[in-house]
Amino acid sequence: MSPIVGVIGGGQLARMMIPPAVELGIELRVLAEADGASAALAATAVGDHRDADAVLAFAQGVDVITFDHEHVPQAVLARLVEAGVAVHPAPEALAVAQDKLVMRRRLAALGAPVPDWAPVTGAAELDDFIAAHGGRAVVKTARGGYDGKGVKAVRSAAEVTDWFRALDEDGRGGALLAEEQVDFERELAQLVARSPSGGFAAWPVVETVQRDGICVEVLAPAAASTATSGAADLARSIAEGLGVTGVLAVELFETTEGALLVNELAMRPHNSGHWSIEGAMTSQFEQHLRAVLDLPLGTTDARADWTVMLNVLGGPEGETLPDRYPAALAADPDVKVHAYGKASRPGRKVGHVTAWGSDLDDVVARARAVAAAFD
Ligand SMILES: Nc1ncnc2c1ncn2[C@@H]1O[C@H](COP(=O)(O)OP(=O)(O)O)[C@@H](O)[C@H]1O
Ligand SMILES: [Mg+2]
Repeated sequence: MSPIVGVIGGGQLARMMIPPAVELGIELRVLAEADGASAALAATAVGDHRDADAVLAFAQGVDVITFDHEHVPQAVLARLVEAGVAVHPAPEALAVAQDKLVMRRRLAALGAPVPDWAPVTGAAELDDFIAAHGGRAVVKTARGGYDGKGVKAVRSAAEVTDWFRALDEDGRGGALLAEEQVDFERELAQLVARSPSGGFAAWPVVETVQRDGICVEVLAPAAASTATSGAADLARSIAEGLGVTGVLAVELFETTEGALLVNELAMRPHNSGHWSIEGAMTSQFEQHLRAVLDLPLGTTDARADWTVMLNVLGGPEGETLPDRYPAALAADPDVKVHAYGKASRPGRKVGHVTAWGSDLDDVVARARAVAAAFD
């Protein structure tokens, strides 16, 4: 019988699990927040991931539940586990990815290198932290941020007055996360996969380039340095220490001194791994399916010397990527284009392009030429 994987969340990550599911004869079902979701090419139920009854009904008959995002409340996950549903990653692991303060605490407890940090509940506390860290800090909301939303580099607590006000109004005694502003040489991401029976695989560590907090470019592999050589072992110790199952992405800073610091974790396929669809022996999406079903993992070696992935961000409302295909696909027939079936909005990730070859400058130029055809 075909194994059945239920994915909560209908975004592009769930969508990109569909091709390997088809290839492996795995049935994929998606719980999407609304009609017309990016992943609606798979069998799709529409329901609210915060509604335990809707999620339990969706989970009927699946072999495992996994995720396209980290927003399913712990109370809902607990109901799934109580009902005997296999959930990967498990709720205790996922809890660490759901809250940046919990993440910092757990990483510090594991002995992973992290930027200096503190929870701050008010302006005076934050100003003290800023004063103790060279007059600047990066402030983050603990929950709900993505693509740089909920992250702000500040020189004064007055710049996040509205975030403190939101905390007060929320009334649950929450805190913001204050971090030292790291002087990084570059940002890296180490993607690994771990299966329930302990199978483990690590892809080559990659360099990620962020603009306005949004990942725009990924170079695979990252040019080798002292820092890159330690990334896979660090990610493995985190995956094992937290009991992560499925794909784990570890976002890292390589400091100007050549050290690694962990920025954040994602327990699902991740933007930094899209290059692996064409660029690695096993893509992150296939590997995630294998891992959550506790099947043997595939090899993760790169197929080319260099693979470069560029995100395509949305432009004017109403346009779709296929509208630009005549020009974009002609720009370089060797470059692969992925469209997420999402309506365009400025700054929204609506697709990506991937190029590969043996000369990095050439590969970057070719990927950029095709991405530019969508501007
Ligand atoms: N402590 C820090 N020091 C310097 N830059 C940071 C720091 N934290 C985050 N950033 C920058 O902001 C980006 C987004 O922050 P991140 O915590 O990864 O949030 P998101 O959930 O939006 O990805 C990072 O990729 C990095 O470029
Ligand atoms: Mg990030």
